[in-house]
Amino acid sequence: MQRFEAYLSENLPQAPSFHPVYEDALGDMLIAGGKRFRPMLLLSIVDAYEPMLYNGALPVALALEMFHTYSLIHDDLPAMDDADLRRGHETLHKRYDEVTAILAGDALNTEAFLVIAKAPLREDVKIKLVELLAEGGGASGMVLGQAIDCYFENQPLTLEQVKTLHTNKTAKLIAVSLQMGAVIVGLELKVQKALYDFGIDLGLLFQIQDDIIDETQSEEEAGKPTGNDTDKNSFINLLGLEKSVEEADDLAKDLQRRFEAFDEKLQVALNPLIQQYLFRHKRN
Ligand code: IPE
Ligand code: IPE
Ligand code: MG
Ligand code: MG
Ligand code: MG
Repeated sequence: MQRFEAYLSENLPQAPSFHPVYEDALGDMLIAGGKRFRPMLLLSIVDAYEPMLYNGALPVALALEMFHTYSLIHDDLPAMDDADLRRGHETLHKRYDEVTAILAGDALNTEAFLVIAKAPLREDVKIKLVELLAEGGGASGMVLGQAIDCYFENQPLTLEQVKTLHTNKTAKLIAVSLQMGAVIVGLELKVQKALYDFGIDLGLLFQIQDDIIDETQSEEEAGKPTGNDTDKNSFINLLGLEKSVEEADDLAKDLQRRFEAFDEKLQVALNPLIQQYLFRHKRN
């Protein structure tokens, strides 16, 4: 984690010009923090199997965080969730203006692919990484999820549809974070697929818990506005808090069982990151 933070602060996007705030805006939300869940998933796999490749993987982990941060900057815009606070800091459209926030998001999206292209890894590996990030984050992934999320505000969806929404907007990027780690260290396709599938359900759990956070935490605790999902097809609005917690518990149990079938090395690597999500809403 410390190595990643150091790498991130030394490798913020650079775009010097006479624009007074643009370059700062590119880095602000990256420095602001966050759990770094997606880069840590990737790096923990690399560290477990091929620590020699860790340095080559750092830019790829940074690319994931850049891409995710772009999605958050756009998610907070007035046209989307209209949020003033992110990672405990003023959102970019508040600190600067909407144009700057839109463009900073655009730039981080593109920068993510540039950083992968320049990483000191094999060319065929990098092509696969670009493909996975684009698949999980793009037109049939995160962006689709965000499109459904925003289009269907105030129009109740079915449970299946909400799961599709959450799978796209959140789970696919988490799933590819795991698979990208597996690609870097050359794990076999069967294991890559198992990790991706596990990541989809882990991501679904992650988003259900995010919906629970919106309902149960204060703005200070969450570092972002809460009670903000009133018009959304969140799990809370569909099932209520108690049933959402039950759904999260059931999913967590299923994930624990599948996790235990993974190779010992993989379990040891992922356990510290995943455990808190698998057990966070454990009932007595
Ligand atoms: C927030 O993501 C948006 C969702 C997909 C739920 P995170 O909960 O990973 O946000 P940070 O990166 O820690 O700020
Ligand atoms: C956003 O989901 C997921 C993204 C793809 C950015 P939310 O709108 O629930 O995320 P928060 O609660 O604002 O972090
Ligand atoms: Mg949103
Ligand atoms: Mg939001
Ligand atoms: Mg949320």
